[in-house]
Amino acid sequence: MEMQLPALRREEKIALQLRCLFEQRGYQLFRMGSFEEYDLYMQNRAFLMGDDIISFTAADGRLLALKPDVTLSIVKNTPADATRRIYYCENVFRRNKQSGSYREIEQMGLEYIGGDDIASEIEVLTLAAQSLAAAGNAALDLSHMEFIDAMLSLFGDEALRATARAALRDKSPHLMCAAAKSAGLSDADTARLSALVSLSGAFPAALANARAIASDFAAAQAALDELEALYQALAQTQVATKIRLDFSILNDTDYYNGLIFQGFVSGVSHAVLYGGRYDNLLRRFEKPQGAIGFALYLDALGRVDSPNGDDPTENDGFLNIALPKGRLGNDIYRLFVQAGFSCDDLIDESRKLVFEDTASRVRYYLVKPSDVDIYVEHGVADIGVVGKDVLSESGADVLELLDLNRGCCRFAIAGKPDFQEDPALPLRVATKYPNMTRRYFASQSRAVEIIQLHGSIELAPLIGLSDVIVDIVETGSTIKENNLEILAELEPSSARLIANRASWRFQGETIRTLIEKLGELL
Ligand code: PRP
Repeated sequence: MEMQLPALRREEKIALQLRCLFEQRGYQLFRMGSFEEYDLYMQNRAFLMGDDIISFTAADGRLLALKPDVTLSIVKNTPADATRRIYYCENVFRRNKQSGSYREIEQMGLEYIGGDDIASEIEVLTLAAQSLAAAGNAALDLSHMEFIDAMLSLFGDEALRATARAALRDKSPHLMCAAAKSAGLSDADTARLSALVSLSGAFPAALANARAIASDFAAAQAALDELEALYQALAQTQVATKIRLDFSILNDTDYYNGLIFQGFVSGVSHAVLYGGRYDNLLRRFEKPQGAIGFALYLDALGRVDSPNGDDPTENDGFLNIALPKGRLGNDIYRLFVQAGFSCDDLIDESRKLVFEDTASRVRYYLVKPSDVDIYVEHGVADIGVVGKDVLSESGADVLELLDLNRGCCRFAIAGKPDFQEDPALPLRVATKYPNMTRRYFASQSRAVEIIQLHGSIELAPLIGLSDVIVDIVETGSTIKENNLEILAELEPSSARLIANRASWRFQGETIRTLIEKLGELL
């Protein structure tokens, strides 16, 4: 019977193409069941994306799990010293951070175990780029764990190093500067770390910039030598046009070392390919060989729409901006107009929510302030402006590119002036920010009962709903007019320019222009 290829879904066609590609390059199919020993994942939690593992007890009493990952099983089943080229196409089971529901994700991956040298990196990187090319208009970003480790060794303190890592991951110069200041670093070191955060772009220019930033760091230069050798080896191929340098890509150092990379396809709001060298994982299994590989998220590629039958991964060229409705949004819009991103009729009295300017290719969405980061994380908006309070609460996976120094306020604990705390009882706290509040009191080892409200928080202690509140304070007048007082001040907040991680790869030039212009205006 003839195969009906047109009936296949997009991701199924890509999977077939990749199977041919991987087989031609000598990679063999690895198959595994849906279940694995729970202990394998428990011992290697930091290797997994997300914490939740679906477990159950088998008839013989063993604790099993629905597999959230394939690489760990491949490594476990590979003999020490063996060289194996393996690929797989399997479903993995993970929890969705926002909805809390479990998802079945179709993953295609490739592992070169025993791949110790630069030739293995060229081989795997080429296959990663070819896999992405099969999926559409792609970008492949490279980073290097040892380069990052060398640069962040400027921080002596592990907690500050973790903050610096977060700043790097979110491309936040303002967070990096704050960490550098707390660590007492010199102005020169602060400036170079801030430049490192913003560094991004095509080889070889980005590599030259990285060399200048890391001028007196031998280990960092060695890592850049490796990246340069990779680029040189790929320079004559199509792959070279797709690869870029971006140190916002970070993996767990207990497992990954050396080269790491992520792939993006236009039209998909997050990375679709994750890869890197994971010799450290092999060491954890007491195996001496090196390893490098990647995983591709097939179902994300299947969700790219193509209503007109056009290439679904082609961008329409508009920069989509989510602005918070209200006073802050109006203020920010005026700033964007000064930066050259105007849109006719935006500040009008209508209830329209979408405004676009075909000439300047800018489209604005007016959304509820607490929803801005959701639009951006999901990629329907490329960039947005949101309060740090909202970001801290949601933990949205977005780039936090700029502190706009608008809408400045601070988190505070407030209560009635005569409130006497009873340490024997959990503190009853009313708040719009339950996650942030839970984190704060956990750091203080204080038991709390959180009462989540959506507004008029100051009322709660007045009528006995809670002992105290955790809320943002701007002018302080709401607190004062309700006869409350501030008991402790927590972190400050202000409006931040955020960007979707994939949009940064495909609309980066426009976003950088906006940042530069805003920088001059602030
Ligand atoms: C916020 C916050 C405080 C108030 C602080 O409420 O929750 O209630 O502003 O501002 P102030 O220090 O200048 O008085 P918002 O105005 O968003 O209304 P809400 O109570 O409905 O959330």
